[in-house]
Amino acid sequence: MIEEAIDAFRKGRPVLIYDFDYREGETDIAIPAVEVRPEDVAMMRKDGGGLICVSIPFVAAEKLGLPFMHEILGASSTRFPDLEKLAHFDIKYDSRSSFSLWVNHRDTYTGITDIDRALTIRKIGEAVAAVEKGKEFDFGAEFRSPGHVAVLKASKGLVFERVGQTELSIAVAEMAGIVPAVTICEMLDEKTGKALPKTDAMKYAEERGIPFVEGKEIVEYYERLVKVK
Ligand code: 5RP
Ligand code: CA
Repeated sequence: MIEEAIDAFRKGRPVLIYDFDYREGETDIAIPAVEVRPEDVAMMRKDGGGLICVSIPFVAAEKLGLPFMHEILGASSTRFPDLEKLAHFDIKYDSRSSFSLWVNHRDTYTGITDIDRALTIRKIGEAVAAVEKGKEFDFGAEFRSPGHVAVLKASKGLVFERVGQTELSIAVAEMAGIVPAVTICEMLDEKTGKALPKTDAMKYAEERGIPFVEGKEIVEYYERLVKVK
């Protein structure tokens, strides 16, 4: 299904990305950020129900001046000492999180509506596109924080270093040759209060003609492409 996933991203369409049984065991709805419309945000919050975030590559985040949240908390602790403790990770499935800042585009009103979130997401995609082309981009002039869209910063070594949906979604975008900014949202299960089981996510994907791809396939395909280059 990896080729179908790459092709769907090229066409600006959604893909479902499952990470690993040993990791979160979650499926995220993933859509190229520059293509996101209000109806996509509505679909993600209704059919996914998790957190709507945007993954961006490490280098793009650095160029936009976006650190990891744990770095911000660490640096702020000289003034607010209690914040330092908050940055200590004890998450069960990885060594650290990929969260950066929460932002809203300055043209949004409250920031939470489908229209507002779609605008923020598309504009993050445009910001990434600009810096990827080597252009200057004044992030603070276009966005404010806190906001209603979480920016996720991929690890520097991408899937060779960390294999969360943050990195997996960027790897698929890179292989598709599209702007590497992807909005992702976990699929949750209303009945159990847990993550949606993989089999249910696969059924959802099949019924709608959306490619379903697993972390293992993405990593293997990406590694092969890198070796060929
Ligand atoms: C933000 C998250 C999600 O799990 C998201 O899929 C990205 O995180 P990761 O890269 O750790 O999988 O924490 O809602
Ligand atoms: Ca995840």
